[in-house]
Amino acid sequence: MDTIFFSLIDKFVLVMQQLRRTKLWTSIFRREHLPQTESDFLAMNRKNFFVHILPATINKSSMRLTYSWFWMGVITFWLFVILVISGIFLMFYYVPSVERAFDTIRYIVNQVDLGRYFRNLHKWAGELMVLAVFMHMIVVFFKGAYQRPREFNWIIGILLLLITIMFAFSGYILPWDQLGYYAAKIACNIANSAPFIGNQVRQGLLGVDNCNNLDQFSLIRWYVIHVFLLPTLIVLLIAVHFWRIRKDEYSTPPEEAA
Ligand code: HEM
Repeated sequence: MDTIFFSLIDKFVLVMQQLRRTKLWTSIFRREHLPQTESDFLAMNRKNFFVHILPATINKSSMRLTYSWFWMGVITFWLFVILVISGIFLMFYYVPSVERAFDTIRYIVNQVDLGRYFRNLHKWAGELMVLAVFMHMIVVFFKGAYQRPREFNWIIGILLLLITIMFAFSGYILPWDQLGYYAAKIACNIANSAPFIGNQVRQGLLGVDNCNNLDQFSLIRWYVIHVFLLPTLIVLLIAVHFWRIRKDEYSTPPEEAA
């Protein structure tokens, strides 16, 4: 399995090297000196964040699929990309109104071309992302990668985990069906019970004085949280997370580090 994986990476590097020499590439990305030798190419990679998220030089045993449980962090990232694409599709039809939310979901599923597919894709990718982010955290914990010098990235990771859970929870509310309505009510009661600032938190998150009267303000707030606030936060934090992975160097299995 690992041999196939490494040979795929080698092939990818070769294709990239050839692509960089094409006229199309050089007409878009102007470079005074194109990399001619392998060491030039490696030097260029070392500087370029977008070429890959891992550091340019990395211990071969850190790349074993079993070391990161099949790149669970990468899987989490791609699930997020699927969620963004399918979420944009859903936004074309979903109306965040207490009268129309549920009907628009039914419309998407029953009438819109590929609607059922995109809705289910969004739902499944959301559930799987929660699972993947948990598994990724467990992997990081058991390989001890939370220790120095990666403790800052561990904290960023915890924030990413909380945001992922908030994503799932806020998405649950949006159809404004029985499940969504009562989920919002639970959120309202939890917010209400915050010590000292319960009133303010409830007002801020649900826009109502009484958790028995959830209305349009409650739904629109969770909609804005789901489609704007959380995505903005997660994109920023993922960028910091990836930047730190490069700066901290990817961890090495203990038997190799010794
Ligand atoms: C949206 C959520 C997340 C995404 C997209 C993400 C993505 C990634 C990726 C792509 C990697 C490198 C490859 C890999 O190890 O699989 C990584 C490594 C890492 N992640 Fe995450 N991650 C997320 C959440 C978390 C969480 C919840 C934690 C812990 C609380 C965490 C802590 C770390 C640490 C410490 C590393 C470095 C691992 C090492 O050097 O061995 N991440 N992450």
